[in-house]
This record gives sequence, C-alpha cells and structure tokens, in this order.
Amino acid sequence: MVEGSPPVLKPVSTTPAIAPFLLIAGSGFGYCELLLLLADPTQSTSISGKRGGRWSMSTMNGRVCLVTGSNSGIGKAAAVGLAKLGATVVIVSRDRSKGEAALAEIRNKSGNQNVELMVADLSSLQSVRDLARDFATKYRQLHVLVNNAGIFLPKRVVTIDGLETTFATNHLGHFLLTMLLLDTLKASAPSRIINVTSEAHRRNKIDFEDLQGEKKYSGYRAYGRSKLANILFTYELARRLEGTGVTANTLHPGVVRTGFGKDLGGFMAVGVRILAPFMMSSGKAAKAEVRLASAPELENVSGKFFKKGKEAKSSAESYNAEAARRLWEVSEELTGKEMQRVAAAA
Ligand SMILES: NC(=O)c1ccc[n+]([C@@H]2O[C@H](COP(=O)([O-])OP(=O)(O)OC[C@H]3O[C@@H](n4cnc5c(N)ncnc54)[C@H](OP(=O)(O)O)[C@@H]3O)[C@@H](O)[C@H]2O)c1
Repeated sequence: MVEGSPPVLKPVSTTPAIAPFLLIAGSGFGYCELLLLLADPTQSTSISGKRGGRWSMSTMNGRVCLVTGSNSGIGKAAAVGLAKLGATVVIVSRDRSKGEAALAEIRNKSGNQNVELMVADLSSLQSVRDLARDFATKYRQLHVLVNNAGIFLPKRVVTIDGLETTFATNHLGHFLLTMLLLDTLKASAPSRIINVTSEAHRRNKIDFEDLQGEKKYSGYRAYGRSKLANILFTYELARRLEGTGVTANTLHPGVVRTGFGKDLGGFMAVGVRILAPFMMSSGKAAKAEVRLASAPELENVSGKFFKKGKEAKSSAESYNAEAARRLWEVSEELTGKEMQRVAAAA
C-alpha cells in the first residue's frame, strides 16, 4: 500500500485576473457561461499533501485498468499514475499516432511496460463495439474502467451514426462501452467504474424532446447536459450494480490545464489562454482519478460524486431517479442495435 497525505485543496482565486474577460463576455459574446464556470474560485483547486489526515492508494499489481481519452490531458496523467502503482493499463486513443506517442511517454514516466494502446473512436458505436471485442480477446479481467474521454463542440456535428457528437462521445459511447464490459467487470470484482463529469453539469436538465440538439444547439448546453448524463448514468449504474462488487462513482476533476476546449475560437480561446496559469496541472487532477481507482477505503463506496478529492453534492437534477431511468432506457434504445449484434455474435 502506498501511503500519502490527503489531498488538501486550496482554492485558487482566479476572479481578479479574469474580471475583464467576464465583462467582455457579459457584453454579448455569448460565452459568459463557461467563463463564469471557470471564474468560480471554488472550482480551481490545488492538491497538497502537507496537511490533514491520511489517505491511501493501494498497489495495483495484477489489476487491469482501461482509461479512455488517455492520449492526452487528465486521462494520460491518470494512466501514468495507475501504471506507477503497478497496474496493467490499456489506454484508448482515437488517433493511432497520438496514442503511440502517449504509450511511449506513459511507459517511460511510469517505468511500467504493461501499458497497451487500443485505438477507438468513442463517438462511433461500431468502434466502441470493436474496442470491447479487442479488449475481450486479450484480457479476461477488468478491475477499473475510467470513462474519461470528453469533447466540447461549439457547433453541432453529427456522428457516423447520425447522433449529436457531444452526447454520443461523452455519454453514449461510454454507456455502450460500460455495458459491453460489464460482465468482465463483474467477473473481476471487486472492480470500479469511474465516470469523469464536470461542474458544467449544473444548471442543466436532460431535454428528452431534443436529445440530439436538432431543434436548438449550444455547445455549452450540449456539454453541460452530457456531463449531467455522466452523473445520472453513474447513479443509475450504482443502483443496478448493488451487491455485485462493482462500484460506480463520478468526479469533477477541477479546472485543469489540458487540451480541452481546443476547438474553442475567438474570445473563449483567448480567455482560456489567459486563465491557463491559474488552472490545475493534469498531473494533480489525475490524482483524484487514481485515488478513486485504487484507494482501499473506497472499495465499497458507490453512487457518489467527488470533487476536490472528496465526496460532494452534485446538482439537484442529477439525483432525479426518473430522469436517470429514462436516460438509461433511451441510451439502451440508441445503442440497442449494437448490443443486439454483440449478443448475437457471442
Ligand atoms: N480540463 C478541465 O478543466 C475539465 C474540467 C471538467 C471536466 N473535464 C473532463 O475531463 C475529461 C478529460 O478532459 P481533459 O481536460 O483531459 O481534455 P483533453 O486533454 O482534451 O482530453 C480529452 C481526451 O478525450 C479524447 N477524445 C475526445 N473525443 C474522443 C472520441 N470521439 N474518441 C476517443 N477519444 C476521444 C481526446 O482525444 P483527442 O486528443 O484525439 O482529441 C483526449 O484524449 C473530459 O471528460 C472532460 O469533460 C475537464
């Protein structure tokens, strides 16, 4: 067991530095929502192990972990952290060359050669199905699934399956991947599922009448709703997994300096560049993912939202069990064809 100090989180006040941007944003550029989100000083945190009680990360020797979106940012740093603890780590990237570069870096930084790359596009149901099949042909066990990949798209883009891409990538792809890997997770219990959400889930509801953003699309709404979907999915999953030894938790990683939002243009791109020095590094943010994946004291904790390294309350809407059940059913329908094909092939 690797003992350490707890993540003591110190708020980093970003408000003064970005005040001019808030004013500009408020004057009609339409990007104030994300700027306000970034400006919330309680969200930007640094983790220090110098004060407080003890927390622990168990050795992960013999444990198999799969991390999506691990060719960059928080996912890559989490893969390094898990590999350092001795886990076998499968990283997932939609781009082979980016994935290979990340693979070399993760092996090098962790000193662990048991790291493997699988190429998959989470926005494509077929690609997710191929990923689950490839994983099953190589691995009999899965102890930790980190659904980390995420995207923000200012304009509506449709996937190969005809779905809105933010919803398809951030929620549906991970929903399908989890369903396809669930038997392996159960057979490997105790095992854990970690869904990476965001504080952007707040002030949102799932619009079941316009899930694909066909009537009205806003990048911020689409992103916020997809992150709310991550939490609703986690809570419903935890309810359904009770007694199986598989836990499901979700976390907001903080406001982190990564490639996230690289598709932002104009003022937002400038704003994010200005805010970057006040944001947390991906290495620090990843500690929370690694802790959720490994801490022995969290082995039986399920259906919880974590923020700033500890359990927290998500939005009131995220506890709407009826919305969670409905989202589950819609997600099953939207991925159903794929799941039936898998069942038929098995
Ligand atoms: N950064 C923050 O402040 C922040 C705050 C709250 C929540 N989060 C969440 O943290 C998670 C990780 O984000 P990050 O900040 O580390 O950003 P990032 O560096 O952009 O990482 C996102 C990862 O997801 C991958 N990805 C995107 N679309 C994909 C697809 N269709 N198929 C497969 N992989 C795909 C990206 O691959 P490519 O390199 O190919 O694009 C990348 O590896 C996301 O879920 C995000 O919502 C981040």
